[in-house]
Amino acid sequence: MTLRRLTLAACVAMVAAMVWAGGGNIAEAVGEEGKKSPNPLSGDKEAEAAGQTIYRANCAYCHGMRADGRGRGLPNSADLRKFKRGYTKFVQTVKEGYKTMPEWGGMGEISDEQINQIGAYLETLAKRNANWADPDETSEVEEEGQVIPASSTTSEPAEPKEYQIHIGHILTSWTDTPGEVGLATILEQEAMIAKEHAGYAVTDLEDLPNIQLHTRHVRHAVDPTKERSGEGPGMGYGIVKAAAGIIQHMEFARDAGDASESAKIHAEHVLASARNIQFWAGKTVDKAGQIIGGASPVSSAFYAEEIVERIDWILNGVDANGDGNVSWEEGEGGLAQVRAHLSYIE
Ligand code: HEC
Repeated sequence: MTLRRLTLAACVAMVAAMVWAGGGNIAEAVGEEGKKSPNPLSGDKEAEAAGQTIYRANCAYCHGMRADGRGRGLPNSADLRKFKRGYTKFVQTVKEGYKTMPEWGGMGEISDEQINQIGAYLETLAKRNANWADPDETSEVEEEGQVIPASSTTSEPAEPKEYQIHIGHILTSWTDTPGEVGLATILEQEAMIAKEHAGYAVTDLEDLPNIQLHTRHVRHAVDPTKERSGEGPGMGYGIVKAAAGIIQHMEFARDAGDASESAKIHAEHVLASARNIQFWAGKTVDKAGQIIGGASPVSSAFYAEEIVERIDWILNGVDANGDGNVSWEEGEGGLAQVRAHLSYIE
């Protein structure tokens, strides 16, 4: 890091401290130089340099090289330049994970000193209203270079468990979907659109252009990335992406440290059904590609009917083994089974 950037960073840190000091209710706790981060390595140049290296190896994948939250790992990784919850919470976040961030960022344990080094580095990037000072005097700091978490007697409102947050992303809301609906909801919306257009495609099985046109529309709802024009009746998200999202978030929930027994069990059922959806969606994209790519009229008609069936399976599952039941199993479960098994999770 250059001297210039360090100087700038120091100014930024001072401004941050001043802004925080003006915050009101903690004013009495603020000394002449403003309330400081309890990180024992705060302001230590060597620690900042070491922290940058450790940060890049362990955190940048998700939080981005500039700590602006724009990494390639998990979506919605926090912008760490705006971190406000105080140093003790920072240490706790790294060690124990935080909401969708797994403990240690999933990258394996690092030492207390390394955490302090990362903290020292991140302080140099802090934006105006960031805060690295602990918000109250109850936090005990600095014992042999290690920060002891604030006393847990201060009760916080009950937060949802981590596994419940991931399930919420499937059922209620996920940030990158249109309208920020849950992943299961967007999957259902796209599947209903696909179903409608698959129906149009088979209204006249001798009319190849009609089959091709409506198959394009189906494909747009299943996987819009395949539609070069980007145009179509779908929501722009696609069944393929929604199914992958459900799988990812279900795995996060299952693997969360606080996952309940029922979450662990039913996660496997949800996953099996979501993988079926993924498989059938893939088949649909294949067949659609063949129709659009100029398969013979006879093949196209046949594939169009197959697509109608696959979309129905995606929504409702299929009794593949003929036992009178649609279960969650491989080859059987669809969205209805995904929802059913999510509802069994306590
Ligand atoms: C696998 C991706 C991933 C890795 C690696 C990762 N994080 Fe995170 N982190 C996240 C996500 C996602 C969030 C946001 C969680 C939420 O709010 O739902 C987060 C949140 C945080 C927060 C809380 C931010 C706030 O404003 O309260 C801190 C602090 C943090 N991470 C620090 C780190 C540090 C330090 C490292 C490296 C040791 C690291 N993270 C590695 C994904 C990751």
